[in-house]
Amino acid sequence: MNEKNTIIVYETRSGVTGESANIIAKVLREKYGFSVDVVNLKEQSKPKLSEYENVFIGSGIRMGRWYGKSKKFLKNNFEGKNVVIFLSACSAGDPKGHDEAVTKYLDNVLAKYPHVKPVAMGAFGGRMKMFGKVQTDTCDPDKVRVWAEEVGKKLVRS
Ligand SMILES: Cc1cc2nc3c(=O)[nH]c(=O)nc-3n(C[C@H](O)[C@H](O)[C@H](O)COP(=O)(O)O)c2cc1C
Repeated sequence: MNEKNTIIVYETRSGVTGESANIIAKVLREKYGFSVDVVNLKEQSKPKLSEYENVFIGSGIRMGRWYGKSKKFLKNNFEGKNVVIFLSACSAGDPKGHDEAVTKYLDNVLAKYPHVKPVAMGAFGGRMKMFGKVQTDTCDPDKVRVWAEEVGKKLVRS
């Protein structure tokens, strides 16, 4: 079993990015034996990174933007660490909108943080509620699981 120290930080408003963080954590623990801490940035905005080898950063997207705490987290120094990015956006879970979501919410955003060189990125679907009722749901937990398995495989070899 590989024992790697991994932190998954995330910010969510509708809950989906937190659900993905927990799916990823489960895969990395159960399939690869990683030791994983999951941190909600609303509860702990500045987790210490020194002990971690792998840093996953997750954000939801609203109005075309990352959430503030996740975006701010990108300013950290990740030298010597494997950085992985994931996000939740309704458009990213729609086959017609996925590629554009990758360009807008991953490629264009990360271009502004050239010190962040992710080893993997994933853009997943989201859920939108209005007046307590789900209006749009493009979430696919299986996609997150399969992606996490691939990323875990990559990290084991790193
Ligand atoms: C006010 C609002 C604005 C949104 N804007 C976008 C958007 O610009 N692009 C998109 O793909 N999804 C958009 N969504 C859908 C969110 O991406 C979706 O709710 C996702 O689940 C957010 O992540 P979270 O659940 O972790 O908060 C929006 C949702 C709300 C409520």
